[in-house]
Amino acid sequence: MALTGNEVAKHNSNESCWVIVHGKAYDVTEFMPEHPGGMTIILKWAGKDSTDTYEPIHPPDTLDKYLDESKHLGEVDISTVMKEKKEINPDEAERLDRIERMPILEQCYNLMDFEEVAKSVMKETAWAYYSSAADDEITLRENHSAFHKIWFRPQILVDVEKVDDSTTMLGTKVDIPFYVTATALGKLDHPEGEVVLTRAAKKHNVIQMIPTLGSCSFDEVVNAAEGNQVQRLQLYVNKDRAITKQIIEHAERRGCKGLFITVDAPQLGRREKDMRNKFKEAGSNSFIDPSLSLKDILWFQSVTNMPIILNGVQRVEDVIRAAEAGIQGVVLSNHGGRQLDFARSGIEVLAEVMPVLHERGWQDRIEVYIDGGVRRATDIIKALCLGAKGVSIGRPFVYAMSSYGLPGVNRAMQLLKDEMEMSMRLIGCSSVDQLNPSLVDARGLFNHSITPSDSLGLSVYEPLVSPKQRAKL
Ligand code: HEM
Ligand SMILES: Cc1cc2nc3c(=O)[nH]c(=O)nc-3n(C[C@H](O)[C@H](O)[C@H](O)COP(=O)(O)O)c2cc1C
Repeated sequence: MALTGNEVAKHNSNESCWVIVHGKAYDVTEFMPEHPGGMTIILKWAGKDSTDTYEPIHPPDTLDKYLDESKHLGEVDISTVMKEKKEINPDEAERLDRIERMPILEQCYNLMDFEEVAKSVMKETAWAYYSSAADDEITLRENHSAFHKIWFRPQILVDVEKVDDSTTMLGTKVDIPFYVTATALGKLDHPEGEVVLTRAAKKHNVIQMIPTLGSCSFDEVVNAAEGNQVQRLQLYVNKDRAITKQIIEHAERRGCKGLFITVDAPQLGRREKDMRNKFKEAGSNSFIDPSLSLKDILWFQSVTNMPIILNGVQRVEDVIRAAEAGIQGVVLSNHGGRQLDFARSGIEVLAEVMPVLHERGWQDRIEVYIDGGVRRATDIIKALCLGAKGVSIGRPFVYAMSSYGLPGVNRAMQLLKDEMEMSMRLIGCSSVDQLNPSLVDARGLFNHSITPSDSLGLSVYEPLVSPKQRAKL
């Protein structure tokens, strides 16, 4: 017999906590302290129907994957469940008004335009989650501004009538040297989530990296791929290696062509904009294994034939260790500034890494990618000049998706292709293999004398004052 709303409502505390999701009740009392989104949010919904809040954050297979079957309590007679009064947010009417008046897609001429539109039309929670970064968000901003420390030295009188922007990434031919990186929770502000990125990646013949923590399940994203479209899996390594093994084997069976292991997140960074918005506790994401170390790499190599790429490498010593361990690729990345604040930009680390690989003659032994702050095709070209095989792009495609759906992501990718063709001509190269360090002046890259401003510090700082004139007696 179905449970009633009253029965579920009694379990509304730390001692006994049940929640309803899609008409079924779940006992989350023991799971709560382990919950990656923290306990507070679950307690807020204890004894109630949490479907509307739960839905965009969790892929459909979450309950089967993370909550023991014994805690699945069965059907609830929804007609007996008290409807929660929706809190009316006074800002929401203004947002809806902004959506009515948002620029048409054709008014977006570059990736930053999508970010500007997204900021004004996205739901507050989604904007806070996507745009936030760690601590003072210095690295977030450095990621982008680091590209501005590199200038071009174009060559002239080269035949650039035909320009070919295509390249290969671990053997896969792609139209342009970027791929769509993993960004979790794609349904926060688009009902379809990650599959939209899949379709755009197909149209533009670029690779998509599927996040472990997507809003769509892994299978939904793979099912959305067409023909011989190439996807790779981003993996957060679970403490329970049996679960990790299952995920990897399943991905390989489903045709994934590479395994990106994220190595920069033994604990999730403090993203305060997001925390403030959700009143969420920071802290470790308990199912990501903080004990992950180089010795585990052998194990990964023993359980998969997919090429392995370490995602989130931040110094040359670790690139060398990865190459020695037989890893096929690294992504020089700081997780879009969301982990360690004051981590250096990917482009700066690249300039440290490539000369050392060349010294050893190892430049072809391991493929090197970067991400963070890539917003223009000139950023891509700068990275390739310094020796990267390609770059990945995160937020801009999510902003384009949230604001304009699939047409938005398609336009964002097309704009990059157009910019790329033009910039290649202007720098004097007709194919990406001609890009080389002599085409850039990167001397300023290691200069940290100007850092993005510490806005919190500045807003609370009370400037010193000089002595004042004494009052006339
Ligand atoms: C019923 C069993 C539940 C399971 C098995 C579960 C599982 C998970 C998992 C695996 C994540 C990780 C996703 C991520 O960090 O990106 C997560 C995050 C989260 N969950 Fe749940 N969850 C459950 C219930 C709930 C409920 C009832 C709510 C609230 C209605 C909730 C709200 C959240 C939030 C806010 C996050 C954090 C997303 C972020 O990173 O900002 N969860 N949950
Ligand atoms: C909203 C958001 C979610 C992310 N989720 C993940 C994730 O689940 N796994 C991961 O390895 N990296 C994740 N990242 C990091 C990205 O893969 C990538 O490093 C970053 O977005 C690149 O910077 P960009 O956004 O400036 O392009 C996320 C980044 C953002 C912005």
